[in-house]
Amino acid sequence: MNSAIRIHQYGGPEVLTLESVAVGEPAAGEVRVRHSAIGLNFIDVYQRTGLYPVAGFPQTLGMEAAGVIEAVGAGVDGFAAGDRVAYAMALGSYCNARLMGVDKLVRLPDTIDDQTAAAMMLQGMTARYLLKSSFPVQAGDAILVMAAAGGVGTLLCQWANHLGATVIGCVGSADKARLAQENGCHHTILYKEEDVAARVREITGNAGVAAAYDAVGQATLMASLDSLRPTGTFVSYGNASGPISDFNIGLLAQKGSLYLQRPTLATYIRNRELLNECAQDLFDVVQSGAVKVRIGQTYPLAEVAQAHHDLEARQTTGATLLLP
Ligand SMILES: NC(=O)c1ccc[n+]([C@@H]2O[C@H](COP(=O)([O-])OP(=O)(O)OC[C@H]3O[C@@H](n4cnc5c(N)ncnc54)[C@H](OP(=O)(O)O)[C@@H]3O)[C@@H](O)[C@H]2O)c1
Repeated sequence: MNSAIRIHQYGGPEVLTLESVAVGEPAAGEVRVRHSAIGLNFIDVYQRTGLYPVAGFPQTLGMEAAGVIEAVGAGVDGFAAGDRVAYAMALGSYCNARLMGVDKLVRLPDTIDDQTAAAMMLQGMTARYLLKSSFPVQAGDAILVMAAAGGVGTLLCQWANHLGATVIGCVGSADKARLAQENGCHHTILYKEEDVAARVREITGNAGVAAAYDAVGQATLMASLDSLRPTGTFVSYGNASGPISDFNIGLLAQKGSLYLQRPTLATYIRNRELLNECAQDLFDVVQSGAVKVRIGQTYPLAEVAQAHHDLEARQTTGATLLLP
């Protein structure tokens, strides 16, 4: 028997239940992956609470992991038993081992260890599409990043810095400001205490930023819009403080003919070609040393409820791993 963390209803961290599950043999087109590290992501919270509904119950949560293929079903091309692999955006990763199709799997280079892979696939590929597709950052652009000391934030800020941007990061505490500065931010703003837009104007010589990357959501909506230069881009990619509702599209005109995108990683890795390109670019930038994956904390898989609590209470930094 294997262990899985499942939910039988939406709710707080207490609905996360450790259960014994039979995994079995892979069907045609499937492999069995034994996990060595599982990535924790804020989307796991949205799925636990029902903000992003799951297909039904019981449901094993978790969208990301790394490990080894230990059995291969009929008709699987390109993957073999013994391959080290990782994946993101495939629901059901909170377990020791699982069956899955190979469409989300990526083979890992020898130079990237399993924990690093599990910490970076979802958040790193997100940073990549945000910087190269949502708003293609050019050297010299000033950008604003909310939650700069978080999982996506630390990768996004380092990568943007590497691309030559001036990176302004908003964070919830002085300790997080130091961490954000070590991870690519040229300037930090304590957004619980300071007037974000005023600080951005001061830092950019009154110009405003070319793009605001904001996954805090409701709480920072106006700070992001007010920090943008005319025709700047607001990339709203998450809801850590709650979803933005009743958005008045006229605000985009009022605040300077702004662009708005509400993207998801799923779109940017929706087929094998896009997934391989995105993952390879991430591997390259990590292998070059330009972007370092910072694992801020690890928890035994059985203590996933504590991990969810800490993520929601803003007590984590960088990436968080669950160890099966
Ligand atoms: N659309 C996509 O493709 C995509 C993909 C990956 C992630 N995301 C989004 O990106 C965001 C970051 O994800 P992550 O997994 O890397 O998490 P994270 O940034 O490590 O954690 C969330 C951070 O948000 C900040 N925050 C501000 N207000 C908050 C509140 N009311 N409750 C909780 N946190 C609050 C906290 O940092 P401070 O204390 O510094 O404020 C907290 O540490 C999430 O919104 C996630 O959904 C979107």
